[in-house]
Amino acid sequence: MSTSSFHMFQSAFVFLLLLLLMSTSMQTISAATTNNGCIKTYKKFIKSACNSTTYPKICYKALSPSAPAIKTDPYKLCNISLSLTLNATYKASSYIESLSKMKGLSPSEKQIIGDCAETTDVAIDELQQSLKALASLQGSDYKAGEMSDIQTWVSAALTDEYTCTDGIEGQKVRKAVKNTINKNVLYLARLTSNCLALFKLLD
Ligand SMILES: *[C@@H]1O[C@H](CO)[C@@H](O)[C@H](O)[C@H]1NC(C)=O
Ligand SMILES: *[C@@H]1O[C@H](CO)[C@@H](O)[C@H](O)[C@H]1NC(C)=O
Ligand SMILES: *[C@@H]1O[C@H](CO)[C@@H](O)[C@H](O)[C@H]1NC(C)=O
Repeated sequence: MSTSSFHMFQSAFVFLLLLLLMSTSMQTISAATTNNGCIKTYKKFIKSACNSTTYPKICYKALSPSAPAIKTDPYKLCNISLSLTLNATYKASSYIESLSKMKGLSPSEKQIIGDCAETTDVAIDELQQSLKALASLQGSDYKAGEMSDIQTWVSAALTDEYTCTDGIEGQKVRKAVKNTINKNVLYLARLTSNCLALFKLLD
């Protein structure tokens, strides 16, 4: 190979390399743009679904991080909403459990903490049942029946959560206990209520 043809070969090689790099980065850019566009669409879907709930802000805040998984699928939306609610119930249950270990609890505080621990555990059971039923819903022949079972369990969980917070009202309970229970269980009840509203979108 002469020096000049070697140079030609070299510049052709560099040129091709540049071309290759450019096309790869353009592909990356365009993939990123498409992806951002999709995420926007997915978040819009969640926002509009959450608009039908009683607590739309809580709904959107809880669900929007899952936009890539939900896409625009109302079934996934319900599944993830239910799973988030169940997770919040586990969390509330463990806070209530830790309250029961506080020193110097009065008999009425013990009573209330015990009652809330019980109703929260029942709510966990009901939400687990709903999640299981929802998982088997796809492809099922008994769609209407199963939907109504799910809604019944979720409503029952909501009632149980309010049984706990209503039970505290007017009782002699120190602030720390009352606030911990109210904060966790009321948030949970709002998630649960939103879940029920989102299920209506599946009907
Ligand atoms: C939410 O609902 C309100 C009134 O019902 C409506 O004006 C608004 O456009 C809705 N927003 C979305 C994002 O769907
Ligand atoms: C529904 O949620 C459960 C629990 O998070 C998960 O295991 C399951 O894969 C989900 N199903 C679908 C179809 O998204
Ligand atoms: C609920 O918690 C489980 C276990 O920590 C986790 O795998 C799942 O992703 C959580 N669900 C949601 C919707 O974040």
